[in-house]
Amino acid sequence: MNGGGDTWWSTWRETEGSLILHVDLRPDPDREQQALAVLDRDEQARWKRFLAKGAQRQYALCRAALRLNLCERLGCANQTLSFGYREHGKPFAKVNGAPADVRFNVSHSGQHGLIGFTRQDEFGLDLEVRTPGRDFDGIGSTVYGPRERRALSAATGSAKAHLFYRLWGLKEALIKALGTGFSLSPARFEVPEPILDGARGAVFHFPHRPADPFWLEDLGEPRFAAAYACRMKAGDSVPRTGHPLRG
Ligand SMILES: CC(C)(COP(=O)(O)OP(=O)(O)OC[C@H]1O[C@@H](n2cnc3c(N)ncnc32)[C@H](O)[C@@H]1OP(=O)(O)O)[C@@H](O)C(=O)NCCC(=O)NCCS
Repeated sequence: MNGGGDTWWSTWRETEGSLILHVDLRPDPDREQQALAVLDRDEQARWKRFLAKGAQRQYALCRAALRLNLCERLGCANQTLSFGYREHGKPFAKVNGAPADVRFNVSHSGQHGLIGFTRQDEFGLDLEVRTPGRDFDGIGSTVYGPRERRALSAATGSAKAHLFYRLWGLKEALIKALGTGFSLSPARFEVPEPILDGARGAVFHFPHRPADPFWLEDLGEPRFAAAYACRMKAGDSVPRTGHPLRG
């Protein structure tokens, strides 16, 4: 399945040290059966607990794609690969029970998924399919900071929806890089000024970790909003492609 013509994932972005795959999450019962067979017993039990078919499909197709790609990168058999979970649920890979030297993050929304692999330690990826007609200002007032809210209320029509999801993806990628989930309120930090002004990438500092620079990048495209965040290491430089490369 992996490496052949019948995969449901494909390379979406690639730079030195980072690879992001796009996962096709359109309904396809044959693929879902194939994917389900790749999952271990715990994952299959989790798959059964999803009430919504769409959530089941997102989980099975993304987790199986993650497994098969991790096996290829780590040179291990699927049966030897398992996942551990940090305090707020961020998964990490284990081979024969020992943590593996690989960093990844996953995001799925609607019929699209992304799986990223990188050398950076704290790494988060987010994808949001844009849904029109929501109360963007109302939701924004609970999750965005003052400058972000001002920018959102000044935008109108489709630009408002676009900005809402752009900001959401960027902030979610940062939260996912830390792995804190809802325990860190997204209203407690704001995206850097250049990003708010339309730049694709910028260096970011969390207010509670001012000494740690993160690279934050908008990866949005017409099909969905998406963003990438990772902690920069000493010697990282920021190339024109955006992703930090080791210097
Ligand atoms: C749980 C959380 C990851 C949200 O996920 P989500 O947006 O529903 O889903 P995504 O599709 O982007 O990501 C889910 C994947 O991230 C990974 N993940 C799970 N917990 C995670 C965590 N704490 N940190 C990073 N990644 C995590 C998993 O691989 C998961 O996929 P899986 O369930 O198929 O294994 C978490 O970031 C959260 O609760 N965030 C706060 C939400 C929020 O306030 N957003 C406002 C932004 S302005």
